[in-house]
Amino acid sequence: MKKFTCVEDIGDLRVAVAEAMEIKRNRYAFTELGKNRTLLMIFFNSSLRTRLSTQKAAMNLGMNVMVLDVNQGAWKLETERGVVMDGDKAEHLLEAIPVMASYCDVIGVRSFARLMDKTEDYEERIIEQFILYSGRPVFSMEAATRHPLQSFADLITLEEYKKKERPKVVLTWAPHPKALPQAVPNSFAEWMNAADYEFVITHPKGYELAPEFVGNAKVEYDQRKAFEGADFIYAKNWSAYADPDYGKVLSTDLDWTIDTEKMALTNNAYFMHCLPVRRNMIVTDEVIESPQSLVIREAENREISAQVVLKRILENLK
Ligand code: CP
Repeated sequence: MKKFTCVEDIGDLRVAVAEAMEIKRNRYAFTELGKNRTLLMIFFNSSLRTRLSTQKAAMNLGMNVMVLDVNQGAWKLETERGVVMDGDKAEHLLEAIPVMASYCDVIGVRSFARLMDKTEDYEERIIEQFILYSGRPVFSMEAATRHPLQSFADLITLEEYKKKERPKVVLTWAPHPKALPQAVPNSFAEWMNAADYEFVITHPKGYELAPEFVGNAKVEYDQRKAFEGADFIYAKNWSAYADPDYGKVLSTDLDWTIDTEKMALTNNAYFMHCLPVRRNMIVTDEVIESPQSLVIREAENREISAQVVLKRILENLK
């Protein structure tokens, strides 16, 4: 594997999940693979799970790990070409990328959508520059439009807990006070379509995702109807994608919060969320603390999804 930014990069999902289960059984079986190899994780945005789980996965493989928080202690980076750099940005990404690449073998990048310009976000300008100019394998630790390590961990979790071959999985929008990118729902939809589950997306009007991510999903605007018979409820907030409202919060309607009354409409569904989650906005205390809540299991599987990706990248280096 030379890059990991979307579901196509992982290949056959059954093979990938089987590899994940093998790693889960013995996560220290490949400690020689990463010997004298260095991972550089570059964060343009905050993280708890991605930072710790990816570092742990790299250490399981015997790698050295360096972490750079671009906005804390590094020079502020200009990312656009042609800008007269007379502001607060002291260094250009085009110099910074090859310099950073010279110190490592593999690069992980976290760079969220800025939600100012849809074209800029959906062209994935930051991570694409790393892929183009680093000369190193690059993987996404959440980019502007996708979060594939999260979606892979979600898929592993679904495969572990599903009770039928083709479960009904519902991705539901839920309220949040701030504008959030579409990366997690886009990516989740992309992976659910690839897994060929019965997949339903529910959200208020105005929150339609990009058609290339919706794919074959059924879109149901009535959240309660969408929940009927569901085996898994995956909650997430996102801001509007459609013009002219791109990046805006159109609703904070708490009637979309996931509560026990709505979960009672399901087939005793499991509750999922990528975390961090705003309690009693996205989901009530009762639901997230219930035995059906898989949020901690998903977070645990972030170590496993990262390890599969890093293992494949390291195997390709040899
Ligand atoms: N789910 C997830 O990516 O968590 P962090 O933002 O804490 O990394």
